[in-house]
Amino acid sequence: MAIQVINTAPIAGQQPGTSGLRKKVGVFSEPQYLENFVQSVFDTVGDCHGQTLVLGGDGRYYNRTAIQTVLRMAAAHGYARVLLGRGGILSTPAVSCVIRKHGASGGLILSASHNPGGPDGDFGIKYNIANGGPAPEKITDAIFARTKELKQYRISDAPDIDLDTLGEVRIEQMVVEVIDPVAHYAELMQQLFDFDAIGALFAGGLRICFDGMHAVSGPYATAILEDMLGAPKGSVINGLPLADFGGGHPDPNPVNAHELIARMSQDDAPDFGAASDGDGDRNMIVGRRFDVTPSDSLAILAANATVAPGYREGLTGIARSMPTSGAADRVAAALGIPCFETPTGWKFFGNLLDADMATLCGEESYGTGSNHVREKDGLWAVLFWLNLLAAKQQSVEEIVRAHWATYGRNYYSRHDYEGIDSAAAAQLMDAVRGQLAGLPGRQLGQYTVALADDFSYTDPVDGSVSYKQGIRIIMTDGSRIVLRLSGTGTEGATLRLYLERYEADPAQHGIPTQQALGGLIAIAGQLAQISERTGRDAPTVTT
Ligand code: G6P
Ligand code: ZN
Repeated sequence: MAIQVINTAPIAGQQPGTSGLRKKVGVFSEPQYLENFVQSVFDTVGDCHGQTLVLGGDGRYYNRTAIQTVLRMAAAHGYARVLLGRGGILSTPAVSCVIRKHGASGGLILSASHNPGGPDGDFGIKYNIANGGPAPEKITDAIFARTKELKQYRISDAPDIDLDTLGEVRIEQMVVEVIDPVAHYAELMQQLFDFDAIGALFAGGLRICFDGMHAVSGPYATAILEDMLGAPKGSVINGLPLADFGGGHPDPNPVNAHELIARMSQDDAPDFGAASDGDGDRNMIVGRRFDVTPSDSLAILAANATVAPGYREGLTGIARSMPTSGAADRVAAALGIPCFETPTGWKFFGNLLDADMATLCGEESYGTGSNHVREKDGLWAVLFWLNLLAAKQQSVEEIVRAHWATYGRNYYSRHDYEGIDSAAAAQLMDAVRGQLAGLPGRQLGQYTVALADDFSYTDPVDGSVSYKQGIRIIMTDGSRIVLRLSGTGTEGATLRLYLERYEADPAQHGIPTQQALGGLIAIAGQLAQISERTGRDAPTVTT
């Protein structure tokens, strides 16, 4: 074994997006592509000597190859120890959990989250810092800057190691400890939730369907729901992680989790349905013939947080991303705690959680989490909901409707226009930006504009400012139109249109969502000339 210094040259476009660097597998497997990026991460991290690194991924195609490369490079940079999930598997929340539990200096997550996998699919890599959360922008910017000046990388020429046997092996001076990917995480869940009460639900006949979408959460869900809590065998479907996710799109929304939605629509549907994404950090909650929006889920968990042992003391605050509905704000107001509005991207919650200014966080993109780790956490949300069902002895639909009756309903929908021309998308955004100054006070349909801006955020902890985080058009009654371009896609651009309308009157809580938002959809279409500029008559995905 020897450490080699290999000459290289900068590779264009290695800029981390909303959640790490994501590219097609074909791009990642080009010579030196992965090596250059990992070297840039290690250069940015600084001295790695004596440190512990956590490593794992969602099991997608190229995961195992990339893991061997990262291990060889970590050894060449003096890491003392790598904690590696068996088979190269660790969900994103489990990486966060293990970093925190073992005092690691950081972790590398190999995943492109909810993007499709396979030889023609996507791959990704993301660095998390010592608090267990995604590296903040100043670090990802520094990594990108480093990729542009890189001349060499360091790597051991050691042979591949066995990824599938628990225990320790050495590469150069570094110890690689292959760990059970589920154990630490399951232990943490047991501390947070009332497993006896949830177990009693299953013993009493509650039926659940958890769709692992052939991604990383399957093993976690099987171990915790079926083996520890006693849900009947077969409660977890598509539970085996596959390199191409079985050809599916591992994004838990009503469109992609169609098998789950079909089961939850049957006459004899289970009482509770849920799905998670590629790397296990997203969640979708479904009742019998009843979808729960992620924004409502955050608000409902916040309103009822003290049912769970881990949150008995109450919440210090709530945080939500800007495009997420204001349902949580109403709960925060009722609880007398602050509600923070951050840009899209879980990394923006890290400082608030570290400073104990927020306990629960959530995003409209099927992400919910808390201060237990520094990532959003799919199975955590499922367990929180099960704890809630146990405490209330009500159905999912009853819980949601009761919440609306108390706080009012924030009708909410997101329209995605995927894979559109990048230049056209940028022009669309610029064209709307150009209109913003003239909008306040203007009558649009039945609405009057109160505020129109491009959202910027000043982090209350470190004072850092993030600009251009999405266009907001807020009406005098609080209804909103939000437009932004996705930061996670790998093909062309994706335009996201977010629509929200508040309705206090319980007699008006039963309108179909798209109908309730019809006025706002029409206004957004005209203002942004969406069909003219995208060439599309309708969104590709509506959630
Ligand atoms: C990832 C991030 C989330 C973010 C989501 C949507 O899942 O972890 O924090 O909300 O992507 O990002 P996008 O830029 O595609 O809207
Ligand atoms: Zn994810």
